[in-house]
Amino acid sequence: MAQALDELIDAGVKGRRILVRSDLNVPLDGQQVTDDGRIRASLPVLEKLTGAGARVIVTAHLGRPKGEHNPKYSLKPAADRLRELADFPVQLAEDVVGDDARAKAEALSDGEVLVVENVRFDPRETSKDDAEREAFADELVALTGQDGAYVDDAFGAVHRKHASVYDVARKLPAYLGDLVKTELEVLKRITEDPQRPFVVVMGGAKVSDKLAVIENLIGKADALLIGGGMSYTFAAAQGHAVGRSILEKDQIDTVKRYLAEAKEKGTEIVLPVDVTWAADFAADAEHEIRPVEDLEGGKIGPEGEGLDIGTETVKLFSDRIKDARTIFWNGPMGVFEMPAFAKGTEAIARAIADSDAFSVIGGGDSASAVRSLGFSDDEFGHISTGGGASLEFIEGKTLPGLEALGA
Ligand code: 3PG
Repeated sequence: MAQALDELIDAGVKGRRILVRSDLNVPLDGQQVTDDGRIRASLPVLEKLTGAGARVIVTAHLGRPKGEHNPKYSLKPAADRLRELADFPVQLAEDVVGDDARAKAEALSDGEVLVVENVRFDPRETSKDDAEREAFADELVALTGQDGAYVDDAFGAVHRKHASVYDVARKLPAYLGDLVKTELEVLKRITEDPQRPFVVVMGGAKVSDKLAVIENLIGKADALLIGGGMSYTFAAAQGHAVGRSILEKDQIDTVKRYLAEAKEKGTEIVLPVDVTWAADFAADAEHEIRPVEDLEGGKIGPEGEGLDIGTETVKLFSDRIKDARTIFWNGPMGVFEMPAFAKGTEAIARAIADSDAFSVIGGGDSASAVRSLGFSDDEFGHISTGGGASLEFIEGKTLPGLEALGA
């Protein structure tokens, strides 16, 4: 059984250096954080620890810098945003486990936070070689000096067998952060005994990323509503021509198998009946709504591509959402970054926000989508901070970060 953060607080943290893995992997526009949801979600644990007098060292990643110190992936914008939101002092080290991190860690006072640079600047963080990862973990652990402890609060990274997530948890007394605890409670509530109907809305570009989760939900969800880029592989599996839409030909057979299995196991797979068909992948592209069985037959023709679900699909999906008691949503319905193709995603977000069901928005992208479309977090039951992590949890996989914590 994993130990909870409160047990660590009760044991006493004043004056101790506590290593906290947070997920500060936020979207940026240059130096500007465009969605600070993960930073806000990381605050309560840091507040709890600093409030109890701990000296906190935060490890986190940003993007995938491939083991090199690359300023483009610096945690500076995230640390700056954390400082603005926090009521405790926040410093950033110039390196991860180098001279600056070590000196700043040693100089920490009670109630202060040090964020070390992006752990992925060190190639050992993500190494497949256990010894390399462990050597890096030893250096992270050394930052805590005597009497250190580790708190994993980075739900978004628990599916990674990385040094700062997995190995460190095996080298220090390790505790489950409150964010990870809440995320697990929510995901268990929707996967173990959901109130029915349980409706899952899936979108996003690639069907191959979500195959395992779809397979796991067949027989568990009452309905699976599939939109976004991945729906064109389903349309193709049903024999429709899809022009230049995103299509994973090599997945067509798998998708056909899922459609047959879903029928057998009583999960209704609901697919788009119409699509916003665009002449180009561009914000100002000419577009029209076409029925899915004749996408190429309009004025744009076979050179077009689907960039959003159409109005009839919005109605169809919204009806299912209205009847649901539990909803999980992962992935946008179209290219929501372009206003002309954001209508489907916005309408589905509205339908979910208006429903009485317990709703969970899973995933970094889906969370950013609803926030950038102007929805507030409290319009939904829960906005998960984990993209891949929440999907892998629903797939039923063992997540290394949780395994290491005994959670
Ligand atoms: C995420 O964005 O889902 C998490 O921060 C994990 O990031 P990763 O997919 O680069 O490991």
